[in-house]
Amino acid sequence: MQVARRIGAVGPSSIRMLSCSSARWATEETKNFSRSFGFTEVSEEEKMGKVHHVFSNVAEKYDLMNDVMSIGVHRLWKDRFANLLRPSFRSVHLDVAGGTGDIAFRIMNKLVPGSDNQVIVCDINESMLRVGQQRATEQGIQDDRLKWVQGNAEKLPMPDSSVDTYTIAFGIRNVTYIDKALEEAHRVLKPGGRFLCLEFSQVDNPILAEIYDFHSFKVIPILGEIFARDRDSYQYLVESIRRFPSREQFCDMMRDAGFQQVSVDTVQCGIAAIHSGFKFADGK
Ligand SMILES: C[S@@+](CC[C@H](N)C(=O)[O-])C[C@H]1O[C@@H](n2cnc3c(N)ncnc32)[C@H](O)[C@@H]1O
Repeated sequence: MQVARRIGAVGPSSIRMLSCSSARWATEETKNFSRSFGFTEVSEEEKMGKVHHVFSNVAEKYDLMNDVMSIGVHRLWKDRFANLLRPSFRSVHLDVAGGTGDIAFRIMNKLVPGSDNQVIVCDINESMLRVGQQRATEQGIQDDRLKWVQGNAEKLPMPDSSVDTYTIAFGIRNVTYIDKALEEAHRVLKPGGRFLCLEFSQVDNPILAEIYDFHSFKVIPILGEIFARDRDSYQYLVESIRRFPSREQFCDMMRDAGFQQVSVDTVQCGIAAIHSGFKFADGK
């Protein structure tokens, strides 16, 4: 059995520099990501179990912690993200790693009453989905158009070319194989369909980066301890952000998966980024 070990001598700042060193993610870096649980090296098999454990542990406090950690700002980022979608009368929206439904609820709010849409939340973790379903009930979203599905982003339980838009918010850095998740996104999208990803990124401004590092590594784990009684899970969440590819590298990975018209927008000086791409009929 492989023993998990900390990836030593790699602090947050040096990772930021490393991740910008080349646009394309080398095979070695891809492999390293698949074997990383934050800054700890684990086997690919262990990673999935550990990520599952994190979200099972935090599910009940997940939404509260998002508000506490970001002083509510994550809501504005998610509003901006969901506003990029233009649901047509019969469109199917798939929100992968949709957790407790934050993105799906925003999409539901944009639907024309009585329209023939579908909004599918897909997540690997049953605890996160259960909290999402409870929230839907509490918010009075009793709508047949909203479906909850348990599934892995790397092997989606959906047919080829079956959805119009695919969204994933703060989810893709938790999967073991990002390339497989992107290929799956491309597979399930209809020709003309759009992929949108909201994820933490690299802060561009050096002064803000210092403050952000302090908040991430010194404050968030303590907030995790106080509000969710779980410091380790929040330590993982901040570390996993630093392991994620740069914006340019992620654009390349999207192109490798077959997406076209790939673009990226930064959110709040690069704290987060929104990647967009399309599947076209003549694409891969
Ligand atoms: C940080 S939460 C994001 C939830 C939601 N999208 C939001 O923005 O609030 C990450 C989610 O990714 C899910 N996840 C992790 N690995 C996954 C996988 N391989 N396939 C599908 N979902 C996964 C977790 O269960 C968790 O619900």
